[in-house]
Amino acid sequence: MSTFKAPKGTYDLLPPDSARFLAVREAIATPLRNAGYGYIETPGFESVELFARGVGESTDIVSKEMYSFTTKGGDQLALRPESTASVLRAVLEANLHKSGNLPVKVWYSGSQYRYERPQKGRYRHFSQVGAEAIGAEDPALDAELIILADQAYRSLGLTGHRILLNSLGDRTCRPVYRAALQEFLRGLDLDEETRRRIELNPLRVLDDKRDEVRKQLVGAPLMPDHLCEACKAYHEQVRELLTAAGVRFEDDPKLVRGLDYYTRTTFEFVHDGLGSQSAVGGGGRYDGLSEMLGGPALPSVGWALGVDRTVLALEAEGVRLELPATTSVYAVPLGDEARGVLFAAVTALREAGVATDFAFGGRGLKGAMKSANRSGARLALIAGERDLAEGKAQLKDLESGEQTEVPVAEIVPEIQRRLAAQG
Ligand code: HAM
Repeated sequence: MSTFKAPKGTYDLLPPDSARFLAVREAIATPLRNAGYGYIETPGFESVELFARGVGESTDIVSKEMYSFTTKGGDQLALRPESTASVLRAVLEANLHKSGNLPVKVWYSGSQYRYERPQKGRYRHFSQVGAEAIGAEDPALDAELIILADQAYRSLGLTGHRILLNSLGDRTCRPVYRAALQEFLRGLDLDEETRRRIELNPLRVLDDKRDEVRKQLVGAPLMPDHLCEACKAYHEQVRELLTAAGVRFEDDPKLVRGLDYYTRTTFEFVHDGLGSQSAVGGGGRYDGLSEMLGGPALPSVGWALGVDRTVLALEAEGVRLELPATTSVYAVPLGDEARGVLFAAVTALREAGVATDFAFGGRGLKGAMKSANRSGARLALIAGERDLAEGKAQLKDLESGEQTEVPVAEIVPEIQRRLAAQG
């Protein structure tokens, strides 16, 4: 062990477990690519101001959890706590929204950083795959994104996820609701900090998990009862499209999200096997964000799914992903001459597309065969001086133990034939 450890709230992804993370990212990305989303990558850090304006100054994410720093050049930057603001900044900067092809549909995958109190499922460095559809107001787009996330979870074999759906209204009806909620909350018996929250961000109070607060929230005015006609009709269409697609969801009139940019449709994917950090993903519409960043009106919708928590959800359900074996052939040379011959064979096999590994370090037969078995390879390619004198090598089936000879010149086609025959 070295003197150093991974920083608090972080962990390393190591093989073989890391293969599951790659498979989860891929499973989330596949339905997105299939639906016309193009890949976007933005920097891991941005101006602090972008997040303050985009995510909201009063949110926990911005006020408490941001890794912000001043560069040697005097710039105020922050490691990204989320990617929606960055993606919209990038789209506006590159004028993608002027391409005449709206919505701009993009997906991303990467690290996010939040200085949170670490616990199972809550880390300071975590990974999301996200999707954003920018520049269209269409209930079908909201429905598309929810359906694609559901497809991704189901393709992984998850069955225990639930979809919570709500509408947070728009700039017409939300202020009226906000005022009604504030009036109700001001009449409750709450601590100092929560009272402050009523003035800054009253919707967040609905999300309070403490029993003594929850009890008092019974009877609180709820957003769905205050939606204007346009928001109500929009939300009803999203619900109908999801129902028609056979996607089950639960209306959750108290669902609020930890970011300020949301309008209208909001949703969360939760998994009950995860304890308190049950949200495996979340998202919604953010029709006003572009203007908040100095851009034109670009109604948009998106989500981000947490890769770490999706892996935990798979574990909770006991789902074992079918991961392709990484190595098909493991070469074991015995002696210097064999080393040269088999190393050349390994290179030729890899060029032919056969996943092959090699016993490095001049190890003896026993140790090398142990590694061959551990590698998950189907065949071991073994050669010693005596084999080579006859122009041959040995091919051992690691499952049946059966061993056959193969002429050195035939190694690649013979292995290809054997692997193809095994399917
Ligand atoms: P979010 O709800 O803050 O939304 O994060 C999305 C997901 O990231 C969560 O549901 C969770 O799975 C994962 N996540 C968040 N924080 C942590 C953490 N500390 N440790 C592990 N996993 C975590 C957003 O980030 C929005 N940008 C989503 C969005 C995209 N809305 C519109 N477009």
